[in-house]
Formats: sequence, C-alpha cells, structure tokens
Amino acid sequence: MTGYFTPDRSVEVVTGRTSATADPRTAEVVASLVEHLHAFVKDVELTQGEWQRAVDFLTATGRTCTDERQEFVLLSDVLGISMLVDAVAHPRPRGATESTVLGPFHVEGAPQRAMGDDICLDGLGESCLFEGRVLDLDGAPVAGACLDVWSDNAEGYYDVQQPDVQPRWNNRGRFITGADGRYCFRGIKPTAYPIPDDGPVGQLLAALGRSPYRPAHLHLIVTAPGFRPLVTHTFVDGDEYLGSDAVFGVKESLIATYTLTPQGPTTWRSTFDVVLAPDHPTDQPHQ
Ligand code: BEZ
Ligand code: FE
Repeated sequence: MTGYFTPDRSVEVVTGRTSATADPRTAEVVASLVEHLHAFVKDVELTQGEWQRAVDFLTATGRTCTDERQEFVLLSDVLGISMLVDAVAHPRPRGATESTVLGPFHVEGAPQRAMGDDICLDGLGESCLFEGRVLDLDGAPVAGACLDVWSDNAEGYYDVQQPDVQPRWNNRGRFITGADGRYCFRGIKPTAYPIPDDGPVGQLLAALGRSPYRPAHLHLIVTAPGFRPLVTHTFVDGDEYLGSDAVFGVKESLIATYTLTPQGPTTWRSTFDVVLAPDHPTDQPHQ
C-alpha cells in the first residue's frame, strides 16, 4: 500500500502499485512515462475538456488505422518521436551514412533490377541517373550489398497510394552491387509531397499552423552481409521544404547534389556514396 492518491504524491502512488514480479524493463519504462505524463498534466494545468479532446483525438487516430494506413506512426513522425527513437536506438559510428525515418510506403519484395535499369514506369517526371558506391568504414567497396530504393512519382504519390493509376512497382527496385561496390540506376528527380493529411494528424498539423510537406527525397534501405541495415533517404539539394520537413527526417549529410546533364539520356545526375557500419557494435556514436 503506497497510500491514497494526492496530486503531490501522484507519481509514487501510481508507480508504487507495480508488482515486484513485473518485468523490470516494463516497470522502468512505465514508471518514467507516468512521471513525465503527470508532470505534463501539472505543467499545463490540463482541463477536463482538454483531456477529453485528447482522448477523442487518440480514438480518432486509432479508428483511422487500417492494414494500409498507420496513423499512430504518422503521429509519432510529426511529433519527432520516430526520429528520436531512431537516434537513441541506432547510434552510428562516425563516418557511416546516417539513417532517417522509414515512412509508411516501403513495400517488401520490389523487383530486382540490373544496374542501369530505369525504375520509372509511368514516364512522368524529369529523368535522373542515381549513382555511387557502397563502402565500408575504411572506404573499401562492399560487394553483394542490396539497395532497395523507392520514391514518389512526378505528381507526389507513391504507387501504393494510386494502385489504379500507377503501374505496380513504379519508382521502386532492388539493385545488388558487384565487386566494385558501385550502383547506378535511372529514375526521376523526386518531388516534394504532403504526408497523408486527411486524418487526425493532418488536423493536428493544421491546428498548429504546420505544413504537411516533406522535401523531395529518394528512400533507400541498404543491406549487406556483415553490416548493419541502413534505412535512409537522400534529399534533393535546394528543395524549399528542407528546413520544414513535416517529420523532421532531414540531416545535412543526406542532402545530395543534383546536377543537370547537358548530354546523355537523363536530365539530372545525383551521386551519393553509402557507408555502412559493421554488424557488431563499435566506435563511438555520431556527435
Ligand atoms: C515518407 O517519406 O514516405 C513518409 C515518412 C513519414 C511519414 C509519411 C511519409
Ligand atoms: Fe517518402
């Protein structure tokens, strides 16, 4: 018995109910959550009406979730929690390419394509040659690395958002590096787009006067035996939304240059080397 509930002793009374047989990590995480939530309620002097609105908002968020749409992850994204969890849970050694949010539009099993292939199947947009190398921390090429890449189309939609409009696997593909670690494929210069904003998260952004836009980016998941999987993007240098990404995914090191190519089959060329961290924990984390 930890005593009756009072505002002053609220945290110790609630966490004091946790049994000694509880899983220690669960007990630790919930104790900290209770401490922060109680402090938040006291800090803002939450009213009953505000609390009810919060409950209604979370209920609507849950009701918006389907097999294809995860509104809670979107909420976590716009509150900066997804980026923070990634930073805390996956510190990377200095020199390794930084990670960023996965987002909801990755699809497993994209077709494996040959180096040089074009992933743009709808013929829309400004064509772009993407090329670079996959390297280890010592600068040696990584052979057998898989780059799973995806981007939106020229109108700002992923193929899965428009299954009746876009060809299946439009702007997606997997590429496997050879002995030189090089990759090269064609696609389009990605375009900025708003995150799905027709649900509760969109209403929250509107209430806060925030833009739902993400700066133009290409998604990559890079995997290779003996290396830590990397979930990242490259961003288009100069994009107007780099400083206001709705999900806080931009990191300076991930901004790639796009140069106009006066000759050749593509309008743009973007070069980016990927540096993978070894599988086992090493070195000190970023920053
Ligand atoms: C995306 O880049 O695909 C994305 C990331 C977070 C939320 C919505 C979309
Ligand atoms: Fe995206």
